[in-house]
Amino acid sequence: MTILHIDSSINGENSASRAISRSVVGQLRAANPGAEVLGRDLVSEPLPHLTLDAFSDSSVLDVFLAADTVVIGAPMYNFTLPTQLKAWLDRILVAGKTFRYTAEGPEGLAGGKRVIIALARGGFYGNGSPAAALEHLESYLRGVFNFIGIEPEFVAADGLAISPEQRELSVKQALGDTVRLAA
Ligand SMILES: Cc1cc2nc3c(=O)[nH]c(=O)nc-3n(C[C@H](O)[C@H](O)[C@H](O)COP(=O)(O)O)c2cc1C
Repeated sequence: MTILHIDSSINGENSASRAISRSVVGQLRAANPGAEVLGRDLVSEPLPHLTLDAFSDSSVLDVFLAADTVVIGAPMYNFTLPTQLKAWLDRILVAGKTFRYTAEGPEGLAGGKRVIIALARGGFYGNGSPAAALEHLESYLRGVFNFIGIEPEFVAADGLAISPEQRELSVKQALGDTVRLAA
């Protein structure tokens, strides 16, 4: 079993999404002691913006395709994903490799992989909340992975900017959720 661990928070050791993604990987390792874990920190090891030339290098895509499980730390910045993570996705969404267009519509080609996403958001974006229409992180990531044939699983810590108490509670709950996810 190969686990690919991706992080994209700029907040280093203070990052909630990094703490949660690390916990997911820890749980998966405990359940699969022989697992190989490959890490990619998109902040210390960033990918450049997409260019046409980038399509001639499939190394990022090959690592993704070879992984059985992909764990992604995804903080919300300005209502969506960090540009570092977008640059990675730009290497993953490749026509003819992870999806194709058919007469019946688009078809995902990357099914059979487990994708677990650790979300960290400063506010609350649930249905009916005032900011719900600004939620372009979870909705975007679900749409993108669905498009390539994967139903991603989410573990979320929300309301992190509301107060230190809320942050502590939300992160604690999310870390608890990672135990259930890996079971
Ligand atoms: C540059 C920046 C932009 C942010 N934008 C948003 C935002 O649009 N909505 C939100 O709910 N929280 C926002 N936040 C709060 C983060 O989502 C929150 O701090 C979360 O903990 C970030 O995850 P991390 O701790 O893994 O970096 C922002 C934080 C930063 C640093």
